[in-house]
Amino acid sequence: MLIDSHAHLEMKEFNPDREEVIERARQAGVSYIVTVGTNLAQSRKALSLARQHENIYATVGVHPHDVARADSKTFDDLCEIARDPKVVAYGEIGLDFFRNISPREKQIEMFNLQMELAVQLKLPVIIHDRDAHEQTLRMVKASGVRRGVFHCFSGDYSMARQCIDLGFYISIPGVVTFDNAKTIQDVAQRVPLSSLLLETDAPYLTPAPHRGKRNEPSFIINTAKKVAQIKGLPWEEVADVTARNTMNLFGIEASSNIK
Ligand code: NI
Repeated sequence: MLIDSHAHLEMKEFNPDREEVIERARQAGVSYIVTVGTNLAQSRKALSLARQHENIYATVGVHPHDVARADSKTFDDLCEIARDPKVVAYGEIGLDFFRNISPREKQIEMFNLQMELAVQLKLPVIIHDRDAHEQTLRMVKASGVRRGVFHCFSGDYSMARQCIDLGFYISIPGVVTFDNAKTIQDVAQRVPLSSLLLETDAPYLTPAPHRGKRNEPSFIINTAKKVAQIKGLPWEEVADVTARNTMNLFGIEASSNIK
């Protein structure tokens, strides 16, 4: 079984052929896709897709790029839609000190606020951390959040260890297939399979050999095979265990309708 634990099927990049993309994933053996909200409007779209497809689940939250435009009404509305049974996590939330599209102070304030909301909603969190490792870890430690995933993990093994000790999973993106991605390959090798998830982050971060094209959930198999090669395991085992980890984290129960 394969699961794409993090995609953005609601994004406009999929408007021309969204249903075909979903069907291609099914044909490629991807049992479930978690589609991740990045602001209120996108979270609503994600949930609407999840309601239309038994094998799609949604998350809600405001991405650090988008927090400058969020207000208290945004969070009231997000908390309301978060109660839908197809919403399985709060996120993606966190810090992006690489692009700094929202001011850093605002990112920090909204990250704290949204971690509190996740605790109130009893949802695991999906964390986005770009060039903000120390601050992100410090804030997660200080919060009460102990259930979630560091998505598109970009730290080293020692950081991964700290995240796992806090109760988090490490999610490996398609970047691991790039020849020069030594740090994430080292993380994939040393972190036990029981703490790993796999993700595409589609439409971004397309794995080899599809680089240059739009990413989509069916490409998750390339990431599974690369992690298997690094760990010296059959790819089916990597797929199965990471799928089970994803279902555990997000509380997804196997459906007899879905292979
Ligand atoms: Ni993402």
